[in-house]
Amino acid sequence: MMNVRAGITALGAYAPPKVVTNEDLEKIMDTSDEWIRTRTGIRRRHVAGDDEFTSDMAFRSVEDLVRRYGEEALEGVDLVIVATNTPDALFPATASLVQHRFGLHAGAFDLLAACPGWLYAVSAAKAYVESGQSKKVLAIGAEALTKLINWEDRSTAVLFGDGAGAVIIEPVEEPYGIAPMVLGSDGAGGGLLHAGAIGRCLPDGTNLTDKLFMNGREVYKFAVRVMDTATLEAIEKAGLVPDDIELFVPHQANLRIIDAARERLGLAPERVVVTVDEYGNNSTASIPLAMTHALDEGRMKDGDRILLVSFGGGLSWAAGVLTWGGGRYPNRVQAG
Ligand code: COA
Repeated sequence: MMNVRAGITALGAYAPPKVVTNEDLEKIMDTSDEWIRTRTGIRRRHVAGDDEFTSDMAFRSVEDLVRRYGEEALEGVDLVIVATNTPDALFPATASLVQHRFGLHAGAFDLLAACPGWLYAVSAAKAYVESGQSKKVLAIGAEALTKLINWEDRSTAVLFGDGAGAVIIEPVEEPYGIAPMVLGSDGAGGGLLHAGAIGRCLPDGTNLTDKLFMNGREVYKFAVRVMDTATLEAIEKAGLVPDDIELFVPHQANLRIIDAARERLGLAPERVVVTVDEYGNNSTASIPLAMTHALDEGRMKDGDRILLVSFGGGLSWAAGVLTWGGGRYPNRVQAG
């Protein structure tokens, strides 16, 4: 039997039109453009409208994918996974809303794994495709994180944004496709970053909160450490060395965290995709949105090895190397 390898063959993304700049935030809280830029690299973030929710943004990202590759990209999708921390409701799953909206004959579930959720969805889709369980998976990262922000807490309010990204995952021929991925979790750090509590507290006594809480300093240290270890592990699992990586698309949380990882990997700045300045941290949407930008800028070329890595609440992390290409939709166009 021939080995089946799963790859990403189509991409689409969406960011809400409403933009909140650092100067806008200066007017409503005790902060400054200078503080935000020097600590995080963020200049603006796109924020969902009052009546715009995760499902709406997920739909838009799939519409963008269809605009780029044609309706045939959705033909035969038999599984929809939406990675999100902010589903419209706990049920129905946002993935079911997507399945219905696009008339897909498919199973559907949401996946919750904090910011690395979309990479977890990619790894799940890879396993479904490579085992023969699914032929074609629509894997979406969609987030309305600003709905969980405490706008009185300047240490978190300035960091986050909203958006969505969608990809098709299906069999491709080697050397294209997704190498074995790295998934990790350290629940001992659950109290460092949490939101959306339905009840009670963690085993260590930390009270869970409804609005987003973050111990920024500790999460920063964790992020720098895990970006280093997870990327090296993913590169090794792909049978490569850091110098083989043509493009690095990390989770877009903080420019300083991205720069630290880039330097440790010895990659030149032009090999790194940065969108955090424009979007802030939009959690599960961050990597597929950044990849769509890179594609539009002509930075993802056939055969390129692309390193993906993310980290977040849980604590959790994920990483993997994708060899880009092998797609079968000839009519790719840049979407407006
Ligand atoms: N504007 C102005 N001052 C602010 C501020 C803001 N928006 N937010 C916090 N400050 C203040 C703090 O109150 C503190 O003041 P103090 O020294 O008088 O107490 C000071 O700035 C320094 O705070 P500190 O937390 O040490 O800043 P930092 O350099 O660690 O940067 C983060 C803060 C949040 C940017 C940084 O810790 C970080 O990026 N952490 C990781 C976050 C992350 O990636 N989260 C996503 C996970 S998916």
